[in-house]
Amino acid sequence: MNAAVTLTTLRRFKQQGEKIACVTSYDASFTRLLEQAGVDIVLVGDSLGNVIQGHDTTLPVTMADMIYHAACVARAGTQALRIVDMPFMSYASVSQALANAGRLMRRGGAHMIKLEGGEPVLDSVRALVDHGIPVCAHLGLTPQSVHQLGGYRVQGREPAAADRLLEDARRLEEAGASALVLECVPVDLAQRVTAAVSMPTIGIGAGPHCDGQVLVLYDLLGITPGKRPVFSHNFLRGAEDIPAALSEYVRAVKDGRFPDVEHSFE
Ligand code: KIV
Repeated sequence: MNAAVTLTTLRRFKQQGEKIACVTSYDASFTRLLEQAGVDIVLVGDSLGNVIQGHDTTLPVTMADMIYHAACVARAGTQALRIVDMPFMSYASVSQALANAGRLMRRGGAHMIKLEGGEPVLDSVRALVDHGIPVCAHLGLTPQSVHQLGGYRVQGREPAAADRLLEDARRLEEAGASALVLECVPVDLAQRVTAAVSMPTIGIGAGPHCDGQVLVLYDLLGITPGKRPVFSHNFLRGAEDIPAALSEYVRAVKDGRFPDVEHSFE
């Protein structure tokens, strides 16, 4: 088992070109397995609203839900960096963001929090970082804005939207963000953003050029109800058991075999 992963490790990985392997986790048992498989980051995602709670969107997820699942994950975690999502409307003002991020760090055992959006969250990002709370930003398809976006669809295809996303990424980094999730954006745009910022980018449906990749655990194991997202892959198919599937995911990310064009958008 390697040494515990920190922000310094992630920066070094980006500089050295080592890919970052990230998976969502919501409980202690899977966190143990993910760490044994060598995952660098466990993300306690608000996707738990979909895969655990059975909602259509992440909007119903509450702070109490996030604290509960983050604490379950933290009880088992010893190696991977733990990022915890701030749920919908828990960071609508700077003071709310500070108070709620503090709860995720103190009671949920978060090492870093993640919030969605660009311009509207810049002041909160600055305030969080000023108070010692590392921030992972999230651009592209931001599921908490699904109704505003008109559905779950690829973002940044039009040149103006792509330029806006690139500018948002730069400004989030200036505000102090230490990592950036890029969800469902064209391969070329993810590549431009990754080259333009020094923080690591972690893609999901964003092609092979990001500094790291994240998958929702249930997609990775092929147990998500309904249609499999185009960008995901069932690593359990062909694997002997769940630990073998998780190890194969980490190897595939580290070797640059996943994602390939089949799991990306033009
Ligand atoms: O909630 C989540 O699982 C996420 C990932 C899809 C990046 O935000």
